[in-house]
Amino acid sequence: MAILKVCRLGHPVLRRVAELVPPESIAQPAFQQFIDDMIETMYEYEGVGLAAPQVHVSQQIAVLEVGKHPRYPDVPSVPLTVLINPRVTVVSEETVDGWEGCLSIPDLRGVVPRYRELRVEALDRQGKPLDFIAKDFHARVVQHEYDHLQGKVYADRMPSLETLTHLTEWQRYWLKN
Ligand code: NI
Repeated sequence: MAILKVCRLGHPVLRRVAELVPPESIAQPAFQQFIDDMIETMYEYEGVGLAAPQVHVSQQIAVLEVGKHPRYPDVPSVPLTVLINPRVTVVSEETVDGWEGCLSIPDLRGVVPRYRELRVEALDRQGKPLDFIAKDFHARVVQHEYDHLQGKVYADRMPSLETLTHLTEWQRYWLKN
C-alpha cells in the first residue's frame, strides 16, 4: 500500500467534474490497489473521507469512514465505505449547519449547511450496487465527498466566510469537549 500525495486548493484537478468509472475496470488489480491506497491515505491524514480528485485522479471514487475520531467526537460511526459513481438524492429539504474541514484546505474549518438526509446510490468496490440512506454527519460527509467529484469544495457552500477559522483557534474556541 502507498500513501498518496494530496493536492491542495488551487490545483485544477479539484475543479474538474470527475469522470465516471467504467464498471468493467473495477475488478482490475490496479484499480483495487488504488482503492486500497486511497483508504490508506485517508487513515494516514486522519480524514473521515477522501475523493479521488484529491489524490490527482479525476474519477468518480470516494472513500469514507467515521470512527471514534479526535476531530469529530460524539458523532455516530460510519463503517468504511467505497463509493464509485455515486448519485445522491435529497430526502428532505431540511438543512443543518456544521463545521467542516478538508485535507485539500489544510488547517481551516468553516460552517457549511448540508441536507440532513440523503439517499445514496453508488457501486461498491466489487462493482455491486449500493443504495442507502445517510443522515446527519454521515450525510454531511457524503455531500462533502460528492462535491469533490463535481469540482466543488466546502468553501463554495459556505454562505458566509465569517466562520472560516484556523484550526488552532477552532480548537480553542469552538471545539466542544
Ligand atoms: Ni475535502
